[in-house]
Amino acid sequence: MNINEYWEDIDSRLEKLIDVGYVKLPSLSEYDLDFLASDVSNEMGTLTFKELGSNHKRFLDEFKLDKYLTPKLHKIAKEVFNYKGDLSNQYHIARKVEPGNSKEMYRAHFDSHLFTMVIPVKIPESVEDNGSGELIYFPNARKMPANEISNFIGKAFYKKYASKEGLDKFSNAHEKKEESFMDYQPLLFIGNTTLHTNHAVLSSCSSYRLTFLAHFFDPSPKYGVGSLLRLIRNR
Ligand SMILES: [Fe+2]
Repeated sequence: MNINEYWEDIDSRLEKLIDVGYVKLPSLSEYDLDFLASDVSNEMGTLTFKELGSNHKRFLDEFKLDKYLTPKLHKIAKEVFNYKGDLSNQYHIARKVEPGNSKEMYRAHFDSHLFTMVIPVKIPESVEDNGSGELIYFPNARKMPANEISNFIGKAFYKKYASKEGLDKFSNAHEKKEESFMDYQPLLFIGNTTLHTNHAVLSSCSSYRLTFLAHFFDPSPKYGVGSLLRLIRNR
């Protein structure tokens, strides 16, 4: 896969991201994803989440994310969203859901980061519709939180949609998008205004489902009101 070519039209794609809140990137199907998937899966063992393991890191380096994407996202963050933080404020995590996992579904939430990118690594086949962990997302489901207190209250408010029933209710009033990632095209969206979650990975699936989740730029300070509120809530 020619990486330079891959990123050729990123500027126009990023315009779409700003315009409508999400955009798909070119397919990774030419990349040897099966090989990568088994390396990452071995590294993860029984874990569902792993933060930037060595194989994950190697992929992001080869993918030249820090050359072609991150600086552009950082520019947008500063100019459009008034982000004040560093380019290094990123959170990369691999997510592996085994068939039949009954926890990893319908947990609708907003990210605290400005941008979220879902990179499909291994997507299973399912005999049933909506049974292979498809992403469900609602672009522009809320306004950009003005500060960390409204961010916190907003997050608590939307908790009631974090179930299949709640989500159906939310879908009545909002534009719902679904993405299977069968085409192996990564998806980039505005993380803190897009409500998102996944369908179940049913036990009838052909394999685990593995994605890399890239999060860029958390505007909330580490030791602020938001983290204090989180601390009180979680204790
Ligand atoms: Fe998320």
